[in-house]
Amino acid sequence: MTTQIQVNKEKEGYFGKYGGRFVPPVLEGKLKNLAESFKKYAFTKEFEEEFISLLKTYVGRPSPLYYARRLSEDIGSKIYLKREDLNHTGAHKINNTIGQILLAKKLGAKQILAETGAGQHGVATATAAALFGMKCKVFMGAEDIERQSLNVDRMKLLGSEIIPVTQGLGTLKDAVDAALGYYIEHPDAYYLLGSAVGPHPYPTMVAHFQSIIGKEAKKQIKEAEGKLPDAVLACIGGGSNAIGIFKDFISDENVKLFAAEAAGEGINTDKTAATLTLGKEMIFQGTNSLCLADKEGNPINSHSVAAGLDYPGIGPEHAYLRDTGRVKYYGITDKEAISAFRLLSEKEGIIPAVESAHAVALALKLLKNKNQLAIINVSGRGDKDVERI
Ligand SMILES: Cc1ncc(COP(=O)(O)O)c(C=O)c1O
Repeated sequence: MTTQIQVNKEKEGYFGKYGGRFVPPVLEGKLKNLAESFKKYAFTKEFEEEFISLLKTYVGRPSPLYYARRLSEDIGSKIYLKREDLNHTGAHKINNTIGQILLAKKLGAKQILAETGAGQHGVATATAAALFGMKCKVFMGAEDIERQSLNVDRMKLLGSEIIPVTQGLGTLKDAVDAALGYYIEHPDAYYLLGSAVGPHPYPTMVAHFQSIIGKEAKKQIKEAEGKLPDAVLACIGGGSNAIGIFKDFISDENVKLFAAEAAGEGINTDKTAATLTLGKEMIFQGTNSLCLADKEGNPINSHSVAAGLDYPGIGPEHAYLRDTGRVKYYGITDKEAISAFRLLSEKEGIIPAVESAHAVALALKLLKNKNQLAIINVSGRGDKDVERI
């Protein structure tokens, strides 16, 4: 966001030096109210019961933790897959949209706004809006509309309006800019942000709603193996599925946490989305975090074969976890991800989202013949990618 900003110096919403809320005055009060409402409602018994009940009966949680025998033999480590691809709508995104739509309902919102890259968050928001009888507008880059057309048709069927975004490269960054721009002009709407990015309270709130993934996985691996895993792996775009599965393991020092960001055509090329490897600290889209930048320090566009990872920013909690060393972040190229996409399909009969395939590729890189016990978060399913890959 390049509009006039108001600096919020509250420590709440910060992860070390990262985070905060840097928004125009018209949104400051609105987001402050959202932060207060999140604290007031989301931890009450009534809210939690409704949230968990919907996750169970509508989304289909808990998602299974599946022992991937043939993949394990291939890699030479014992691999379990956390099957977020089996959720209703086909990805982890629905966990967050159900949580936020319940909050939007409490706030009396009539119109929901969302951005989407891969279309999974758009579909999840359109679904939640249909479920609660709310109007929904989804901003989506023109390039992403083309490469994720299956999800565009799904959103339309669900009764949402798609707003094509042609500025920039027509990818996720541009969709977020357009959604924020519309929100500034229509502050009565509820902006249902899809990842652990943006101004406070979104990074905290989205991580909270996604932390169900790690809570379940921890319980499930203990039941299956009688112990914690050596490693947990996830792909990372803005950072919501990764923080969702990592959160409950952060205090378990012996569990290694690995995240796969999109290196695109390579870390040393200008066609990359490896923000944690290459990004500079700056205020971008309402938060102080890392972002890919040119020599003058201006945000630049990213590239990845995976629309959901094709984003130059990153959630502030991940920037902090990188600095502390608790999570290790690695770049996975388009080629490596596509090859892992095929491998998981052939070895296990599971076609992953090309985003999730980045995490599988990272397991191939780090765990080859290491005899480790690991969980890979399969953040979504790959139907949307079949035609292009
Ligand atoms: C299946 C899937 N996985 C991962 C991501 C990346 O998002 P995040 O880093 O917020 O989990 C997306 C984003 O669209 C997605 O659709």
